[in-house]
Amino acid sequence: MQVAVEGIVETLRGVPPARFQPGEVCARLRGLLLDPRTLQPYLHFAPRRYTRNLIYRDAIFELIALCWEPHSQSPIHNHSGQLCWLSIQRGALRLENFKSLDGPGPGDGIRLVPNGGLARATEGALDLQQGENAIHRVSNPFEERAVSLHVYSRPYDTCIAYDPPSRTARVMKLCYHSIGGKLVDDPPEQLQ
Ligand code: SIN
Repeated sequence: MQVAVEGIVETLRGVPPARFQPGEVCARLRGLLLDPRTLQPYLHFAPRRYTRNLIYRDAIFELIALCWEPHSQSPIHNHSGQLCWLSIQRGALRLENFKSLDGPGPGDGIRLVPNGGLARATEGALDLQQGENAIHRVSNPFEERAVSLHVYSRPYDTCIAYDPPSRTARVMKLCYHSIGGKLVDDPPEQLQ
């Protein structure tokens, strides 16, 4: 069954703050497919990159639609110790997890090793990242555009981005490409 974007916002707003935890939220997002007509206003693609499009934000969670051009990818990053749910709504994505041998950083001399993931996760797939050491990269190495819905709790505006060749981990500011369906005045050029 397809759900309107407004419906999933209301569903998530109905979760008491103390219960905004993996089990409760996974139960609401598992198998979720949004009505594409209600998602459409939030979908903004940009050449060769991915965009972050804010649908809703309050003190407990933010809901973002990420639009992935073919061959775009996120930096390898963590989630600032917050919970992150990812639900694929269109197309397919590669989900790669990493483990730091030297703590989350930021800093130098941070070694990462691969820690599982999915080579090709498709429509309806749900992923959860949790804890200070949850480090991952999301990419669209495929030939079709993809769209994923992300819930972050609590919302956060910076995370740590990792560069394995130089073993550095730096604080990265997170920006929106659009808010409430409207493009921001000065959308970020590149997220990586
Ligand atoms: C992002 O939010 O910019 C990257 C995607 C993710 O962390 O799931």
